Amino acid sequence: MALSTEAHWNQTEEDWALLLEQADPWGLELPDAGVVATAVGWDLSPASTWINMVLVTESCRGRGYARRLMQAVLERARDRGMAAALDATVFGAPVYERLGFAGDDRLVRLKRESAVLKEVEVSGKATVVPMTTGDMAEVEALDLMVLGARRSGMLQCWRERLPRAAWCQRAAGGELIGFVLGRLGRVATQVGPLIAQDIAGARALLGAVLSAGAATMIDVPVKQETLIELLQGEGFRAEREFRRMATVGGQLPSDWSRYFAAAGPDFA
Ligand SMILES: CC(C)(COP(=O)(O)OP(=O)(O)OC[C@H]1O[C@@H](n2cnc3c(N)ncnc32)[C@H](O)[C@@H]1OP(=O)(O)O)[C@@H](O)C(=O)NCCC(=O)NCCS
Repeated sequence: MALSTEAHWNQTEEDWALLLEQADPWGLELPDAGVVATAVGWDLSPASTWINMVLVTESCRGRGYARRLMQAVLERARDRGMAAALDATVFGAPVYERLGFAGDDRLVRLKRESAVLKEVEVSGKATVVPMTTGDMAEVEALDLMVLGARRSGMLQCWRERLPRAAWCQRAAGGELIGFVLGRLGRVATQVGPLIAQDIAGARALLGAVLSAGAATMIDVPVKQETLIELLQGEGFRAEREFRRMATVGGQLPSDWSRYFAAAGPDFA
């Protein structure tokens, strides 16, 4: 928690707890300073482990610690016949390129600082309903179809942690066509994943989730230009970018046309 806070990241103790429970966490410990670096491998599919929480405390950077931890996570993945993927910050990308990661799909983090109580103008909001336990099997199936990887535990956990950010969208026939989830972070509420059939669906789901006034961030694929413009019109500003990178065979087979917001670089 001290490492992610020092880097001004948004994770809470609950986020770390979820990763410690579900993933393969590594730390580098110095006798006099405790854990000074971390990296986590989280198996998202039989082919790919998602690497996150690559952090080195400022005073220990440039000593090869990130590389050593990454090599440990990658070796364990390789032992199980798996490749790897991740979302890189500008600091992380050069480290990962040296380890064979490539990829140019980008996500932009948009953040709205203040309590803007105005609701996003939407149409079709009537088809959006709060997510319940009974929706979870369909939510998990849709997430698997669009992301190309399974993260059932995370989806369940976020619905329970922040039910007011959990919404489903159903077609006239009842079929689940979209959903959104969110979580309370250390500095802001993170909205995402957001999956929808089209921009109208994404707007309707955002209309439900963005009505609360807390500081909010959302990681949108840069290809979703219309959504980015919509959010900028609602007071969101671009804060930084992430690059989705993978080793050979590790790229998730995601349907980017329906992936309107990621869950964050920690949860894909
Ligand atoms: C990114 C971060 C983890 C790197 O940790 P580190 O321990 O300093 O990195 P290493 O010393 O292991 O560097 C590994 C390699 O990448 C290179 N490298 C590291 N940072 C670099 C940078 N900013 N620009 C260019 N090259 C860089 C190193 O020279 C080294 O190259 P080599 O293997 O050829 O010798 C660290 O800067 C950090 O915690 N930053 C803040 C959090 C963050 O953004 N994490 C990445 C999340 S995706």
